[in-house]
Amino acid sequence: MLSPTADTIRLFLHVLAAAVWVGGQIVLGGLVPRLRRAAPETTRIAAHAFGSVAWPSFAILMATGMWSIFDTSLSERATEYQATVAVHVVLAVAAGTSAAIHSLGRSKLALALGGALGLITSLAAMFLGLLLRTGS
Ligand code: HEM
Ligand code: HEM
Repeated sequence: MLSPTADTIRLFLHVLAAAVWVGGQIVLGGLVPRLRRAAPETTRIAAHAFGSVAWPSFAILMATGMWSIFDTSLSERATEYQATVAVHVVLAVAAGTSAAIHSLGRSKLALALGGALGLITSLAAMFLGLLLRTGS
């Protein structure tokens, strides 16, 4: 049996938080149309409840991601790997910014555009994260 290391714990927390942040948005997308039909007043409650789980997950993604960058000798990696990490982080920051605009914005445009961009950039960040794994 292989023994877990600090790297395993860090990766576990990063992937767990990514699953909650990305998977939660997809589940919310499935719930919203049904909630709107059955009990429209609950949509906002569900959205806020998701936010209180999603934001701590995003903080864990940031913390474990930065831990990973500082712990591994990134400067010694191939340029392609470094570039993929950079785009991964930019996409993650764009995802957090879009989700914040969606949550805090008062217009329908901010809600719709922030929500859509947040989901797309989160999915793209996840894809690049897995690309990092295959390229390491
Ligand atoms: C991590 C990403 C997300 C976070 C943190 C988040 C959080 C929130 C929060 C806090 C609100 C309440 C805004 C207010 O007080 O007016 C809200 C509203 C809403 N969210 Fe999200 N959301 C996210 C992604 C999504 C996605 C992917 C969907 C659907 C596909 C979605 C659907 C909605 C809808 C429909 C509302 C309006 C609810 C209403 O006022 O009736 N959200 N969201
Ligand atoms: C939307 C937010 C994010 C998502 C969905 C996400 C997702 C992922 C996934 C799925 C992996 C692959 C894990 C594996 O090797 O199996 C990964 C790896 C990685 N992520 Fe993220 N991530 C996000 C944010 C961040 C942030 C903010 C940083 C840096 C500040 C970061 C840095 C990294 C690094 C360095 C790796 C390679 C880890 C390693 O192989 O040890 N990520 N990410």
